[in-house]
Order: sequence, then structure tokens, then C-alpha cells
Amino acid sequence: MAIRLGDTAPDFEAQTTEGKIRFHEWLGNGWGILFSHPKDFTPVCTTELGEVARLKGAFDKRNTKVIALSVDSVADHEKWSADIEETQGHKPNYPLIADPERKVAQLYDMIHPNADNTFTVRSVFIIGPDKKVKLTLTYPASTGRNFEEIVRVLDSLQLTANHSVATPVNWKDGEDVIVVPSLSDAQAREKFPKGFKTIKPYLRITPQPNK
Ligand code: BEZ
Repeated sequence: MAIRLGDTAPDFEAQTTEGKIRFHEWLGNGWGILFSHPKDFTPVCTTELGEVARLKGAFDKRNTKVIALSVDSVADHEKWSADIEETQGHKPNYPLIADPERKVAQLYDMIHPNADNTFTVRSVFIIGPDKKVKLTLTYPASTGRNFEEIVRVLDSLQLTANHSVATPVNWKDGEDVIVVPSLSDAQAREKFPKGFKTIKPYLRITPQPNK
């Protein structure tokens, strides 16, 4: 069964490169990102896991834990981590889940048999402090993800969770945002003391509120 936005992220127990975890307990009260890759010792995955290690500070700043998953063993994850450090300059500084029995992969619908019957696709789940799924992404094995985009989405999710705004196309932290249509002009005037510009009655722009 596919996992949809707003669902509670399924809890599970798993072995990782940082010991056994229970997922919800490991997540704690902050945000989390669970992402899968098809296989250890493969080229695209090597670049992706190095990039996530490079971005660790950006995730920490956003109170977000990251955790990777594939159907490989802890021993393989550990051996491969040395290759990631050697080739990408960054060793995974977050846990890698070992899922050789595909328990978590099945729970999260990460194996898409018509694409590949054996390995996980490149899934991303962003999970909020309420343990609800806020974003899902699925990429094929042949296409590496853009993890700076994941950081950008986190900024949007964290902003829109706390303010009555939405973020427009290609928005980046610090740029103007959209007043949600459910607010009346009178309510918007109260909420956004810096004011807002009405381009159409349904398209109102205001400076990012938390800046
Ligand atoms: C890769 O990470 O390079 C990869 C993994 C599985 C299939 C194809 C490419």
C-alpha cells in the first residue's frame, strides 16, 4: 500500500550502521528524512550518499535527522562508506539502515517491481515532528537526486507549517511568499504587518514573515 501525504510514517525496528533503532524513537521530536538507494557499491548512489554527508550541517540547522536505506547488510554499508569518503570527500555521518529482508522497503513501498524486482527505487520521505509524511519523492535508479532541492523543500515545509503562507515556483529561503487564499484581506493585514501586494485576488505576495 502506497504511503500518502498526511499518513503517519510507519514505525519499524531495524539494524543500522549506528546500531539497532526503533524509527519513531530515533526520530524524536524533530523532522526526519528517510531515503532509499538501490544498491551499495554503485556509482550514482556513491555520489548521493556523499552529498547527503556534505549537507549534514544544513539538515542539523533545520532540526532534521537523515537516514538512508538499502537492501544491503551493515557490513556492506560500512565497507562502502570508506569508498564514499575516498571518492566524495565525505563519509556518511548519518545511519544507513540494513534491510536485506526488505521489511522496511515493503512497508514503505520502495520496491517497484515493474522497474526492478530486487532493489529499492530512490525514495525520499520527509516526516514532520508529528510523524506525518510531508513529502514523498520517487526517482529511478539511473537519476541521482538533487539534495539541495530537499533542503529547499524543508525550508518551505517548516515555514508553511508555522505561517499562513505558501511558497511560489522556484522559491528560495528569504524570497517573497504567497498569502494563503483562505485568509481574507482583513486577516492578512493583521497577520502580515509588512503588508502584501495583490496581483489577483487569489495571488497576494508578502515578504517572508520569519525574516
Ligand atoms: C547507481 O547508483 O549508479 C545505480 C544503482 C542501480 C542501478 C543503476 C545505477
